[in-house]
Amino acid sequence: MGASSFVPLNMIGVGFIFPFLIASCLSPHLAVAKDGVTRHYTLDVKMQNVTRLCHTRSIVTVNGKYPGPAIVAREGEWFKSDPEAIISQALQTGGGPNVSDAYTINGLPGPLYNCSAKVLEYAAGDGSSKQRPQFKPTLPALNDTSFVTNFSKNLRSLASNNFPANVPTKVDRQFFFTIGLGTNPCDRKNHTCQGPNGTMFAASINNVSFSMPTTALLQAHFTGQSNGVYNPNFPTHPLTRFNYTGNPPNNTMVSNGTKLVVLPFNTSVELILQDTSILGAESHPLHLHGFNFFVVGQGFGNFNPNNDPKNFNLVDPVERNTVGVPSGGWVAIRFLADNPGE
Ligand SMILES: *[C@@H]1O[C@H](CO)[C@@H](O)[C@H](O)[C@H]1NC(C)=O
Ligand SMILES: *[C@@H]1O[C@H](CO)[C@@H](O)[C@H](O)[C@H]1NC(C)=O
Ligand SMILES: *[C@@H]1O[C@H](CO)[C@@H](O)[C@H](O)[C@H]1NC(C)=O
Ligand SMILES: *[C@@H]1O[C@H](CO)[C@@H](O)[C@H](O)[C@H]1NC(C)=O
Ligand SMILES: *[C@@H]1O[C@H](CO)[C@@H](O)[C@H](O)[C@H]1NC(C)=O
Ligand SMILES: *[C@@H]1O[C@H](CO)[C@@H](O)[C@H](O)[C@H]1NC(C)=O
Ligand SMILES: *[C@@H]1O[C@H](CO)[C@@H](O)[C@H](O)[C@H]1NC(C)=O
Ligand SMILES: *[C@@H]1O[C@H](CO)[C@@H](O)[C@H](O)[C@H]1NC(C)=O
Ligand SMILES: *[C@@H]1O[C@H](CO)[C@@H](O)[C@H](O)[C@H]1NC(C)=O
Ligand SMILES: *[C@@H]1O[C@H](CO)[C@@H](O)[C@H](O)[C@H]1NC(C)=O
Ligand SMILES: *[C@@H]1O[C@H](CO)[C@@H](O)[C@H](O)[C@H]1NC(C)=O
Ligand SMILES: *[C@@H]1O[C@H](CO)[C@@H](O)[C@H](O)[C@H]1NC(C)=O
Repeated sequence: MGASSFVPLNMIGVGFIFPFLIASCLSPHLAVAKDGVTRHYTLDVKMQNVTRLCHTRSIVTVNGKYPGPAIVAREGEWFKSDPEAIISQALQTGGGPNVSDAYTINGLPGPLYNCSAKVLEYAAGDGSSKQRPQFKPTLPALNDTSFVTNFSKNLRSLASNNFPANVPTKVDRQFFFTIGLGTNPCDRKNHTCQGPNGTMFAASINNVSFSMPTTALLQAHFTGQSNGVYNPNFPTHPLTRFNYTGNPPNNTMVSNGTKLVVLPFNTSVELILQDTSILGAESHPLHLHGFNFFVVGQGFGNFNPNNDPKNFNLVDPVERNTVGVPSGGWVAIRFLADNPGE
């Protein structure tokens, strides 16, 4: 095998960056899929004005489309306000970031927002334009966890010959990650500290809050300068065990670091994501770049390594690229780290 190529595998939720980096033993020029077919794409990636919910924003489009047709150029939620401004405001104040003011599926808001309803204007027989009241279904409350759980429990993949569910049955590496919020001390440098007790909110995984490096992680790997940029010692389990969803520890501080797990190419991974109640339980949606994964189990309270795996669905679980870690609960996912180029 020639040179190594590396796949950055970041899972990004609201403030979370997942610490995987996949080392590939394929040559970087060999962008060949498992089935040996080489596919060629022409992707015209450019900024373009896109309008949703009466707000127009310049956003990355692929072949003139948002979201893109063949690759997803911009993941995540649509905000009517500027998402960069929201992040920078949260970093500045030390408080929580504003939540999304517009929920979308595949980048589209659906007909239920006030602004989208305008699309349903029609011309009456006399030529005048009239608006009729729109029929709106009764939806569950945004915090109705029980409803959402019952609904999503019913989702299954087809697991047919045409659409097989290729769930990894053997697991090479297992990880247990706690996901949640903690605090950083107020460093008082040009910003306020609106977190609990005058601290700053900090998202963390296994109590490590990601410190953004100034050199790109992938670049550091390629140039062999990883040591100065990141440590490959991301903890596979929490260093301190506690009742993750029970009474929180008194010390809510997090540690900081640019830490990663480096996975050999084609490793099969099982990852348990456990919410913590340190600053209150919350549902944290997490996204895996470059891969789909299977959601093999989920539950409330603390994951039980003896009993819960018995109930994992390895037959027809849903295949996703984003999953919510249930508020005060856990979710188990499996994937094969076999994508040599994101
Ligand atoms: C997008 O809209 C802004 C103002 O609405 C305009 O200045 C800009 O030229 C537009 N950009 C493109 C690529 O059309
Ligand atoms: C966040 O929400 C607050 C309160 O609604 C608002 O005043 C502020 O402008 C918002 N921030 C951004 C960046 O949109
Ligand atoms: C939608 O419009 C109604 C009636 O004008 C208003 O009461 C409501 O606050 C609006 N909702 C949002 C999300 O703007
Ligand atoms: C949802 O929020 C409402 C108001 O904020 C509250 O009254 C209700 O108890 C909450 N429901 C759940 C299931 O937490
Ligand atoms: C969800 O299912 C459980 C168990 O079947 C039931 O007790 C609960 O009422 C359901 N919740 C909702 C909101 O339907
Ligand atoms: C403080 O923050 C403001 C707003 O972000 C910025 O304009 C200013 O340059 C900062 N001052 C220092 C000393 O960093
Ligand atoms: C905030 O400080 C008070 C008084 O020192 C203490 O009782 C409380 O536990 C602290 N809360 C947090 C979240 O650290
Ligand atoms: C964890 O905390 C929850 C909620 O307080 C409690 O019900 C549970 O028994 C605790 N678990 C353990 C192992 O202490
Ligand atoms: C937190 O501190 C209180 C009072 O200092 C103590 O009683 C309690 O046991 C501590 N809780 C934990 C989880 O350490
Ligand atoms: C997280 O790390 C900080 C800093 O090292 C430490 O003070 C705190 O006790 C740790 N918390 C947990 C839950 O491990
Ligand atoms: C983590 O980084 C923040 C921001 O740079 C700093 O204020 C804080 O003291 C650091 N925390 C630890 C435990 O090193
Ligand atoms: C990757 O692993 C899977 C399952 O373990 C195996 O079937 C496949 O042949 C492997 N692919 C490569 C390129 O090594």
